[in-house]
This record gives sequence, structure tokens and C-alpha cells, in this order.
Amino acid sequence: MRLLASAISRGVASGCRATGRGAFALRPCGARLLGMDFHKASSTSHSIFQLHSTDSAFLPRPSRSHLHTVAMASKYTNKLQGKRVLVLGGTSGIGFCVAEAAVEYGAIVTVSSSRQASIDKAIKRITDAYPDSASRINGKTCDLGGDDLEEQIKGLYEFATNGGANKLDHVVNTAGDKFSLPKITEFTVEAANKLSQVRFMGTLFLAKYAATYMNSSADSSFTTTSGVNGAKPADGWAAIAGYITAQEGLIRGLAKDIKPIRANNVSPGAVHTELFNHFGNEEEVKAIVEMYAGKTLTGRIGKPEDLAETYIYIMKNPFVTGTIHQVDGGYLLV
Ligand SMILES: NC(=O)c1ccc[n+]([C@@H]2O[C@H](COP(=O)([O-])OP(=O)(O)OC[C@H]3O[C@@H](n4cnc5c(N)ncnc54)[C@H](OP(=O)(O)O)[C@@H]3O)[C@@H](O)[C@H]2O)c1
Repeated sequence: MRLLASAISRGVASGCRATGRGAFALRPCGARLLGMDFHKASSTSHSIFQLHSTDSAFLPRPSRSHLHTVAMASKYTNKLQGKRVLVLGGTSGIGFCVAEAAVEYGAIVTVSSSRQASIDKAIKRITDAYPDSASRINGKTCDLGGDDLEEQIKGLYEFATNGGANKLDHVVNTAGDKFSLPKITEFTVEAANKLSQVRFMGTLFLAKYAATYMNSSADSSFTTTSGVNGAKPADGWAAIAGYITAQEGLIRGLAKDIKPIRANNVSPGAVHTELFNHFGNEEEVKAIVEMYAGKTLTGRIGKPEDLAETYIYIMKNPFVTGTIHQVDGGYLLV
């Protein structure tokens, strides 16, 4: 940050004025040099614009090529600055890393899951790692597994947008509950409904209110999460493969139905997250991790940080919609 501030101060020194607190503030012309709309930049951009007087004192006038370099330096990296991002499932695993990455990119983030304790823990983890992010992160529970699904979703959107006043730019859903999978010969209607609720129905009803609570723009994105078992079902996973495929079809349809907001899906391979804690004791989990690693071309299973990159890319690229992003270390090819 200090390096960037110093670079900016060199590039726009003549466009700066001293503030009463011994720091410099940029005039709109300086912001335009950085490829940003000054008037749109939220208060979260403020930290970038606070340049200590000692950084910019006695600096030579910048050359034209230097100014160009400075302007280009923020063309890609500032895309999420001040954007409002909601992450369901943002308290653990993949969703946590999406929330963390969005905070690192300067976004204003709401994390959600079914339990207040996990929200509190996630916010603490993020603010411990990024102390200046405390005013940019909050959280609210939303249980996608209950009969009041729609009310829960509306309540979350109301919270994240301050009653609709501050619309969202990006919604990410990585929520996934623990499930039991009966053999196909033992399936019940109840088991089938339960299996579809959080991941499929949750996505459907989140999308129902996207137009109401999100900025209507191709800069906005709605991203969900499926899994490799849709394309390559494990033995006994027919029902899961069905719901995953349904969810991916849903996303292609939503890309049309909620346009210009973009709709995309990420399909992870095996990723070592807290989800693995449900698979047994430490030894058993280690064996599962090694087994999946042996089924990749990369020689290791995924980290949640690897997956976060894909969600961030989708948020940042206004030309990506209706897609399924396979992020699996080559699992489908093995
Ligand atoms: N990890 C993998 O290898 C892998 C592979 C393929 C697909 N996926 C899919 O990717 C998604 C994320 O996986 P992950 O590994 O990051 O899982 P994870 O670490 O277990 O995180 C799941 C998140 O969902 C939340 N959640 C659980 N039940 C919920 C409910 N009823 N309502 C709202 N939120 C709920 C959890 O928080 P609370 O418990 O506090 O509610 C948590 O924040 C899941 O859909 C998973 O099936 C994962």
C-alpha cells in the first residue's frame, strides 16, 4: 500500500492538495489518471488516497511514460475497490477464502451461513488478518435448509443492502450442508428434498431476488458452486450428480433470466476445506486427501485459496456469463 501510495504521489504530485491532517488528497483529475471514477469511489478507496506528506515531498516532476505506468498500474487491481459483495457459505472453506480475497481487493463484504458463531469467527479471522477491514465486513445468518427459506433470503438481502439502499455488486453462493446419501434402492422423497434444498433451492431463491437487491449491470455477478460429481459421478452418487447438473443448467438459464447481471458457476474438484472434517478422523481424512491427490494431474488436491481466484475472476470480468468453471487439478481427465 505504501509503495502504491508513493507511486501515486509521484505521478500526480501536481494534482494534490494538502489536507489539514498533514496528508494529501487527490483532486478528481488525479483519480481519472488512475482509471477510476472519483465520484463513484467509495470511502473504502480513501486509504489509497491518503498520501503522507513525507512520501511526496521534494519529488521530481513525473515523465509522461511514468504517468502512463501509474495509470495502468491500477487498471486491473482496483476493480473490486468499494464493491459490495455477499458470500453465502462465507464462514468456511471456499466461501471464506472468497470473502477474504474480496476484502483484500478492497470490497465491502457480507458473510453469511446458518450459524452466528461461525459468522463471528470468520469476521474475526478476516479482521485479524486485515486490521483495516473492520468497517468493510459484516455478517448475518441465513439458514438455506429451513422451511422459511424465502424469508431467510429476503432478510439477508435486506441486511446486506441496508434495506435496499446500497445494492450489491456481487453475490456468491458456496453454502453446502452435510448430507447423507442413501443407496438408490433406499431413496425416499424426504431424502431427495433434503438433498436439493441448500444447494439447488438456495440458489434458485437467491436468484429470485437478485434483480431487486443487485445493481442491474453486466459489472454485477451471481456465482454459485457445484462440483465435479456432475460430470464424473462417484459410485452411488447418482442423486448428487443429478442435482449438480440441474444447478449448472439453472445457471445457464439464469444468465438469460437475470441479465444484465451475469450468472456463472464454479465446479470444484476435491478441495481441502473444513468439509473434510465430516469424513472421519485425522488419519482417515489424510488417506482421502492422498487418494484424491492421486486422481489429479497436479499431484495435489485444491486449496480453498485456489478456488477463490476463480470467483474473483468472475466478479472482475464483465464479459463472462452462463459459464461453468471446472477447477479440479485435471480430475476429469484422469
Ligand atoms: N471441498 C470440496 O472438496 C468440494 C468439492 C466439490 C464441491 N464442493 C462444494 O463447494 C461448496 C463449498 O464447499 P466447502 O468445502 O467450502 O464447504 P465448507 O467448508 O463445509 O463450508 C460450507 C459453508 O456452508 C455453510 N452452510 C452449511 N449449511 C448451511 C445452511 N443450511 N444454510 C446456509 N449456509 C450453510 C457453512 O456454515 P454453517 O455451518 O455455519 O452454516 C459453511 O460456511 C459446497 O457446496 C460443496 O458441496 C466442495
